[in-house]
Amino acid sequence: MAASRLVVLVSGSGTNLQALLDAIDAHPGGAEGFGAEVVAVGADRENIAGLERAEKAGIPTFVCPVKAYGSREEWDAALTEATDAYAPDLVVSAGFMKIVGKNFIDRFGGRFINTHPALLPAFPGAHGVRDALAYGAKVTGCTVHFVDSGVDTGPIIAQGVVEVLDGEDEAALHERIKEVERQLLVDVVGRLARHGYRIEGRKVTIQ
Ligand code: GAR
Repeated sequence: MAASRLVVLVSGSGTNLQALLDAIDAHPGGAEGFGAEVVAVGADRENIAGLERAEKAGIPTFVCPVKAYGSREEWDAALTEATDAYAPDLVVSAGFMKIVGKNFIDRFGGRFINTHPALLPAFPGAHGVRDALAYGAKVTGCTVHFVDSGVDTGPIIAQGVVEVLDGEDEAALHERIKEVERQLLVDVVGRLARHGYRIEGRKVTIQ
């Protein structure tokens, strides 16, 4: 079976993207064996390590900054078209720090996944790690989920748990979460691509 086509969206350092690229590279069967290949990387800003990682790997990139468009709707339409141009089977938001709009969800709903640095439904939004620390949570972690029209509200595919250590700051905790998160994302993407999946209400079953 041909490898699933992935478009990965990033806004920052792109270590989750790198984990996917490395796992595909390291698989003895290559992209076909892993089940997926990254066909393009999109971003909402220039000059980020995530784009450099893609360029280094010889993967096409595109950038859609919100400010380059007259309205949020126009930005969303442009991001949708730029992503669709690569005919993805799955779109992966890996540290993409923008909420996409209706157009994007209408086009890619059911095949658009996000990774979030908290145990959803706790601590959604842009500051999942900071919010868990401020709340005094003793465990937190990461969640890979399908994206719906809410903020981090879509059906959960998999989660990883990380204990919060006494006196730990946001950066240190986030780094430990990301170690678990990268593994989880690689595992989930590979399994979705190789086995297929069903979404029934909030329940996701990998076949
Ligand atoms: C990841 O921890 C991801 O969960 C988080 O940004 C980080 C990106 O790291 N995303 C969010 O907080 C989205 N709300 P990376 O750029 O090194 O992959």
